[in-house]
Amino acid sequence: MSDTILWYATRGAGVVSLVLLTVVVVLGITSAMRWKTPAWPRFLTAGFHRNLALITLVFLAIHIVTAVVDPFTALGLNAALIPFSSSYRTFWLGLGVIALYLLIAIVITSLLRPFLDYASWRLIHWFAYAMWPIALVHGFGTGTDRSFSWMLGIDGLCVIVVVLAVLWRTSRPSPTSWRALPASESMNRSVSR
Ligand code: HEM
Repeated sequence: MSDTILWYATRGAGVVSLVLLTVVVVLGITSAMRWKTPAWPRFLTAGFHRNLALITLVFLAIHIVTAVVDPFTALGLNAALIPFSSSYRTFWLGLGVIALYLLIAIVITSLLRPFLDYASWRLIHWFAYAMWPIALVHGFGTGTDRSFSWMLGIDGLCVIVVVLAVLWRTSRPSPTSWRALPASESMNRSVSR
């Protein structure tokens, strides 16, 4: 594959990953808020949230593999596995690796959710609030396209929707907090998850 194709693939897949992650975070918040309408039942939000997170991993794999094998950056595998080990844009790439590990932890614990207690799963899921801004800063810090107006527009839109979703989430008591759950559901969660 030519260097140019790899370079475009890294950039394109990075932008798509960020946009998908943004939608995943918003759908997660929507799910936690138990939002639904007659035309949009809650299982649709939950299903979308889960499937989109898995699709994001595919785009991230393309983003990372093309970056690693691109002879121009000559990153090497370690740069994608060990945070801050890359000689190329050490800090910004290190943030990308940390965001990746947080995302992997969130996805794995979600796939294993039936075997975990609810509190542990939820604690790790809260890392999403750290993972998303770290990924955003990584892309903003290192991206070739970061100062183009279309990229600034995408970054700005992502920030606006996540901030609005978080404000909505914090503006009212969470329907999924221990206090808000009916006693029977709290009990089920602590026993069976
Ligand atoms: C959650 C994880 C990650 C997300 C959401 C993400 C997203 C992004 C975004 C949005 C950009 C900017 C693209 C552009 O300006 O066109 C970018 C750039 C870049 N990312 Fe990531 N990234 C992640 C993890 C990683 C990891 C683990 C690596 C390690 C190899 C990596 C390597 C790079 C490189 C080399 C660039 C610069 C590409 C260029 O020259 O424009 N990323 N990333």
